Amino acid sequence: MTDTTRRAALHVIRLDHKRLAAVTTAMLDFVRMLGEGGSPPDPIVLRAMLYYIREYPEQFHHPMEDRFLFTALRSRTDDFDDVLDELQCEHIEGDVRLRNLEHALTRFELKGEAVLLGLRTLMEQYVDFCANHRRVEETVIIPAAERFLTDADWACLDTALERRLDPFGEATFEGESLASLYRLIANAVPAVAEAHHDA
Ligand SMILES: [Fe+2]
Ligand SMILES: [Fe+2]
Repeated sequence: MTDTTRRAALHVIRLDHKRLAAVTTAMLDFVRMLGEGGSPPDPIVLRAMLYYIREYPEQFHHPMEDRFLFTALRSRTDDFDDVLDELQCEHIEGDVRLRNLEHALTRFELKGEAVLLGLRTLMEQYVDFCANHRRVEETVIIPAAERFLTDADWACLDTALERRLDPFGEATFEGESLASLYRLIANAVPAVAEAHHDA
């Protein structure tokens, strides 16, 4: 029996999920701290976290699942088509929710505490939405892939991953790399740093 825990593609997906969980949890902590008085955290860190999600999971992780993992599973069985359809809709919905969060943060920066509740509510809903999405992928889709995909399928997935531009190594925006963006977030938020060191 093949040791599927060593599949490179699954390692990448699980690591992405761990990082995303750390960043979204940190975003929620951050928004809660904004309402607690004292010396509030700088909203630029929250903006960096939103930017990270915009640049990495939205640009790389979800398209990788759609194009490779989900497509491979669909080619082997129809049993999960409904779940995969829902997950693909959620990839689109997640982008909309992220944009709404960016707008809510801008409103907070312009108007202050009067609109903090709206930002906090959107953030709580987003964190729940992302956690549920990851849970379905990890408890339904990954086990299904481990069951139905062939060694040739896994080889294709691994090759696709190797050929991608390294999202943590290449300059991707304004002269900065995603690696330095993630480091900036990890330096500001200890829980994110822990997920980073598990890589
Ligand atoms: Fe996904
Ligand atoms: Fe995912």
